[in-house]
Formats: sequence, structure tokens, C-alpha cells
Amino acid sequence: MTVSALRTPQRHRCTVVGCEGDETRFEVGRGQRVLHEMIRRNVRAVPVGCRGGGCGVCRVRVLDGEYLTLRMSAKHISADDAARGIVLACRTIPVTDLVIELAPAGHDAPSTPSPPTRPTPPPDTST
Ligand code: FES
Repeated sequence: MTVSALRTPQRHRCTVVGCEGDETRFEVGRGQRVLHEMIRRNVRAVPVGCRGGGCGVCRVRVLDGEYLTLRMSAKHISADDAARGIVLACRTIPVTDLVIELAPAGHDAPSTPSPPTRPTPPPDTST
């Protein structure tokens, strides 16, 4: 074990700022995901859906702190979102204490399903 490992906190504080300025705090164990720790600690601050990056309901914006993310679908988090600190709480692992707020629904997600596309038939070469 290195000296820096001894200095790394075993858990980080996560503060969720609500839309009316209210704050909810909970601890996230080192290497754990924000949403999973929130659920485990029976805290209700971020909407919970699939818990695996598939539905996008747990979008949050990190206002302060450092974090790592597991792979996130561009369907829910665009490159622009990621650049603005918008992440999926179920795919986010704090590296330091975090302050987050709920993020609006993704603008990249289609509001209606696209119609299925059909393959283009080969050109008619019989004439
Ligand atoms: S809970 Fe579904 S993407 Fe996070």
C-alpha cells in the first residue's frame, strides 16, 4: 500500500442540490457509483430507473468535484453534455466530494421513434 492510498478517503460526500435550493447529502464509498450508493443508503434525491445506463432518467450535472464515468450511451449523454458535466448518476464514480444537480432531459433523445428504414433495392439493369 502506498502513502497516497492511505490518504485517499474511503468515501466521498455527495451533495444533491434540488431545484429550490434544498440540499440532500449522502456518502459514496470509494469506487462506488453515485446512484447505487444513494439507493443503498435509502436516499431519494435522483430519479431511479434501470440503474445501468439504459434509460437516462438519472441525468445530473456535476457542479463541483472530480469523477470518473463508466461508458455512457450518446443517446443519453452527448459529447456536449459531457463537456458541461452532465452525466448519468448510475455510471458516475466520485473521485472527490461532489456537488450535483438534476439535469434536464437530454436534447439528443428522439421525442418520437424514427420510422424503420428499408434497404435500397439494387438498380434495374435489365434494360
Ligand atoms: S437509472 Fe437508467 S440510465 Fe441511470
